[in-house]
Amino acid sequence: MKVFTPSFGLLAAFVAHTQAGLRFPCSTLTTQRLDPAAQPGALPSAHLHMIVGGNAFNATMLGDVGERATCTTCQMSEDFSNYWVANLYFKDPNNGSYHRVMPKPVQPLLGGSDGAQGGLTVYYTQFDLSKDNLARQPIKAFPPGFRMTVGSPTVTTKPHAGLSYQCMSGRSRGTIVSDFPKGKCDNGIFTTHHFAPCWDGKNLDSPDHQSHMFNTVTSEGFTNAPACPSSHPVRVPQVAFEVEWDTPAFNSLWDPAKDKNPFVWSYGGVGAGTHADYMFGWKGDSLQRAMDKSECFYDGCGSIKKQAMSEANKCTVEDFVKENIDGWQTSMAGGVGGEATAAKVKKSFTA
Ligand SMILES: *[C@@H]1O[C@H](CO)[C@@H](O)[C@H](O)[C@H]1NC(C)=O
Ligand SMILES: *[C@@H]1O[C@H](CO)[C@@H](O)[C@H](O)[C@H]1NC(C)=O
Repeated sequence: MKVFTPSFGLLAAFVAHTQAGLRFPCSTLTTQRLDPAAQPGALPSAHLHMIVGGNAFNATMLGDVGERATCTTCQMSEDFSNYWVANLYFKDPNNGSYHRVMPKPVQPLLGGSDGAQGGLTVYYTQFDLSKDNLARQPIKAFPPGFRMTVGSPTVTTKPHAGLSYQCMSGRSRGTIVSDFPKGKCDNGIFTTHHFAPCWDGKNLDSPDHQSHMFNTVTSEGFTNAPACPSSHPVRVPQVAFEVEWDTPAFNSLWDPAKDKNPFVWSYGGVGAGTHADYMFGWKGDSLQRAMDKSECFYDGCGSIKKQAMSEANKCTVEDFVKENIDGWQTSMAGGVGGEATAAKVKKSFTA
């Protein structure tokens, strides 16, 4: 299956087979300029992120996150991992003011997933979304302290396969494209972020936060992953997440016939620079348990614990950075003013 565009009928067909893989919502935990994976210790980090997951989130994160956290905004209540992306902004073409765009829960979701607030939808899969891969290739859960990123804000041409955009019209997600959609999307901009599924088996991180991993994704959509190479022989769960940005809130303020795309990421670069960060934090062996059981698929997972989203929504972290990111602003958080300052961001990101 090349492109995964769920409908209830399609999901019912999947659930009838034995599969192992997870899909669940996580509400927004916080939106701040923090980046414990790419800029550990920076308070604040270069650009604004929308973060979900456990409450051990902080400017610096070392050791066993799953043991430190006490709550999570994710539906799977043993998952204290953190997942984050750059936040989207709208730049008003008439007066140049910026307003942050809010994420909205990806729908439809199954199994009591309703009630997520903002956030994103996380996937942990083994092979693809239509086959159980347990017999073919063992999947090893990440060790405590593990982190990785995918994509880079400094990329200016085409993002890696698996990092993509779709222009949502009603329930339809539309064609997968590698940059911001052209024109207005009446139900929002949908973004997908696939992480590398092959690990070197040794390093919890690497200087670029990516070279301890190998990305087998070469085409868009949830496709069958090729075998891992000998340099990165350990097959870990394929982590992916999806975010829906509520861009229609700004659609009355711009005219595609006159204005160029008014949406801009918080790092000030172009759409090809889309990227995402992952900080592993499942408690104990819970992720391994989920990956070892074919009963775990979507909401059909008896071996790991779930919580109501109303409970998940109570989990918070403090506002470490303390800057006003609401309402209309003369620049994006961190003083970034759009494409013109992308070079400056590049410098601070790699510093
Ligand atoms: C965040 O990290 C700082 C510095 O390591 C530490 O002092 C503080 O207690 C942490 N806060 C939370 C809420 O974990
Ligand atoms: C820019 O336009 C928006 C939308 O009309 C408005 O709400 C905002 O106040 C304006 N900003 C300035 C600085 O005038």
